[in-house]
Amino acid sequence: SANTMWGGRFAAGPDAIMEAINASIGYDKRLYAQDIAGSRAHAAMLAAQGILTHADAEAIGAGLLQVLAEIEAGDFPFSAALEDIHMNVEARLKEVIGEPAGRLHTARSRNDQVATDFKLWVRDQIDAAISGIEALQKAFLAQAEAGADWVMPGFTHLQSAQPVTWGHHMMAYVEMLGRDAGRFRDARARMNECPLGAAALAGTSFPIDRHATAHALGFDRPAANSLDAVADRDFALEFLSAASICAMHLSRFAEELVIWSSAQFRFVRLSDGFSTGSSIMPQKRNPDAAELLRAKLGRILGANVALFTVMKGLPLAYSKDMQEDKEQVFDAADNLMLGLAAMTGMVRDMTANRDILEAAAGAGFATATDLADWLVRSLNLPFREAHHVTGALVALAEKKGCDLADLTLAELQSGHPGITQDIYSVLGVHNSVASRTSYGGTAPDQVRAQLGRWKEKLG
Ligand code: ARG
Repeated sequence: SANTMWGGRFAAGPDAIMEAINASIGYDKRLYAQDIAGSRAHAAMLAAQGILTHADAEAIGAGLLQVLAEIEAGDFPFSAALEDIHMNVEARLKEVIGEPAGRLHTARSRNDQVATDFKLWVRDQIDAAISGIEALQKAFLAQAEAGADWVMPGFTHLQSAQPVTWGHHMMAYVEMLGRDAGRFRDARARMNECPLGAAALAGTSFPIDRHATAHALGFDRPAANSLDAVADRDFALEFLSAASICAMHLSRFAEELVIWSSAQFRFVRLSDGFSTGSSIMPQKRNPDAAELLRAKLGRILGANVALFTVMKGLPLAYSKDMQEDKEQVFDAADNLMLGLAAMTGMVRDMTANRDILEAAAGAGFATATDLADWLVRSLNLPFREAHHVTGALVALAEKKGCDLADLTLAELQSGHPGITQDIYSVLGVHNSVASRTSYGGTAPDQVRAQLGRWKEKLG
């Protein structure tokens, strides 16, 4: 039989395959709470404007609450024949309250309805992402505070570069995550305009009050152009873009954890709770959560690319292509939240091996720059010449198979006759990090300053 919502001009119902490709209820039922909130705001506004009687609006409002309770109870009979969440809710409302249900869709279309529902949902996810990020920042802060002055190797090209502090490395992620949260906040501020009342695309001839519905749903204002309001999904793309960047950051730390937890590095020990064993190799403690986190960017960025590709080239206003927006965003959001929670647990529970970090900090002639800087400071050598002298001394130490600090004074003087005993003071890793007191540098005092600023910010 023809569809009860739009079947007036149809003699026959859809082919089963048509129904299968068309229905979105399998996933957009996740929008039920937003859909009902939007409908309740719409009905109340219609009554306030004299478009609906107060009696009808009250019946609709109460009926929608009953539908909400039924869905939340978990036994709601979602129907693919009713396509999507909007028509499933309305059809049930009709069963519950009868005729007034048919008046709810006055001055509204599923186009502005779905844009509103989806925006509300994405907005909630932005708030969840920001709390997830802040929880992770706090876990990094705790690690940074515990080891503000622990020394470890700093790398470029994954080759020993200069010693840094554990706290400094942890705080680097606090900064990245801070910008991630900022991107979500910016996206939230930009997207917070209400599509409801744009109707199908052109607005409506009914005397609606879009400011009232926008306000009731917590939007800053109604969207100013009805075509734009139903046609764009840039808010979802901004969410996915911010999520992709955040997931990229998680993936980088995940990679560091995979390396650091290996038997070759042993910089950190992941907790039992965030490690897995092997069914054949009894010695194994695998960093599976970190590996999965490294992979999550694949699907989150994949969702971003998918939605860009859906939207690219769509003429205004609504096209059904846009129904493909939701699964991508749902999957990306679920995986971002899970990833943030997993990373928070891993960071909170991991143990840094302070002694191993310190022993590794000096390896690979990591204080060579300190030696060169000493030559500049004490002998007034141009940095390029100091670099050259130091390079020769590194080559000498490498040939002897020892560290720079193990070279005798006579050997050091073979590099430059002006070198004195005083140079040994800069060859130790603790002196090295303590000397890097420039703003944002790795010196423990600088790290503690960053820490203090973030602790205040995060409360
Ligand atoms: N399920 C649809 C979606 O997600 C709702 C909007 C349908 N609008 C329409 N004109 N068919 O996009």
